[in-house]
Amino acid sequence: MTVEILPATTASIRRAADILRSGGLVAMPTETVYGLAADAANADAILRLYETKGRPHFNPLIAHVPDTEAAHRIGQLSDTAEKLSAAFWPGPLTLVLPYAENGSVCDLARAGLNTIAVRCPAHPAARDLLAEFGSPLVAPSANISSRLSPTTAQHVAEQLGSKIDLILDGGPCDRGLESTIIDCTQQRPALLRHGALALEAIEAVVGALAVQDSNDKPPTAPGQLLKHYAPKAALRLNAENPGQGEALLGFGAAQADLNLSETGDLREAAKNLFAMLHALDAKHTAIAVSPIPDTGLGRAINDRLQRASKRD
Ligand code: TXA
Ligand code: MG
Repeated sequence: MTVEILPATTASIRRAADILRSGGLVAMPTETVYGLAADAANADAILRLYETKGRPHFNPLIAHVPDTEAAHRIGQLSDTAEKLSAAFWPGPLTLVLPYAENGSVCDLARAGLNTIAVRCPAHPAARDLLAEFGSPLVAPSANISSRLSPTTAQHVAEQLGSKIDLILDGGPCDRGLESTIIDCTQQRPALLRHGALALEAIEAVVGALAVQDSNDKPPTAPGQLLKHYAPKAALRLNAENPGQGEALLGFGAAQADLNLSETGDLREAAKNLFAMLHALDAKHTAIAVSPIPDTGLGRAINDRLQRASKRD
């Protein structure tokens, strides 16, 4: 059975909220990537969510809320967290906070931690769904665990089509990379995941962050596994030219099968990254990728490419 894909309208959003209330799973567009939404308070729904994604139960989920007021009901915001939410919400920023007593997010969604990851998304369909639903929705990226993240409704249907209850189509994601995650549970805020909001923008508001290099230390965002976001094709990074049998995913002036941004614009490259990997992965068994500058959004792009290039 193939899942229904409905344009995000008032009627389909109402229907999505009903499905979520009865413990169902709905793919929703956000400005970063498509999320697979479930009622954060419903442990049965969360269990099904983990199973559907093939996601390890020790990997906690992000609770999505419509505004900072709703964030206060599930997490404790430090001064730094208040500053960050004021500057960047709604938007592609997730804050890890001490979990609020009497919060409604079930243990399973938090993987038993006494902290909670919270994000207020900017996409109008996600905001309408949160308003209609009326309490927090957890939403991991709507892909099979460790595979490429979805930036269109079609990507979701390809990976999860028969296993979920509805896909709301809100068009291609504007940012194309997951949210940046900042740990606000300690005195000094720390970067847990590079993402769609550049480090430089965050540091302009709260000063230098503590950065964890999860490539050689145990990750603090438990989901930052080394192999992640992976296509089936082999991926070779920092390639000046494609080798025999390789497709080239270019950046800048490269003569490429697909080009992340001919003008070398990192925002455009971030937006295209997963969609172009999906497209090349469907036709090729090996993909070479041009060098990407390691500044601004380039850091998040390189982080995703590094993880995507790891083999089992
Ligand atoms: O842009 C996004 O953040 C998307 C959209 C759908 O909102 N969601 C997303 O969720 O990327 P997911 O589940 O694919 O990634 C969530 C990350 C994981 O790496 C997880 O380990 C981390 O957030 N995380 C969740 N709760 C945490 C916590 N309490 N402490 C540290 N890391 C946490
Ligand atoms: Mg994910």
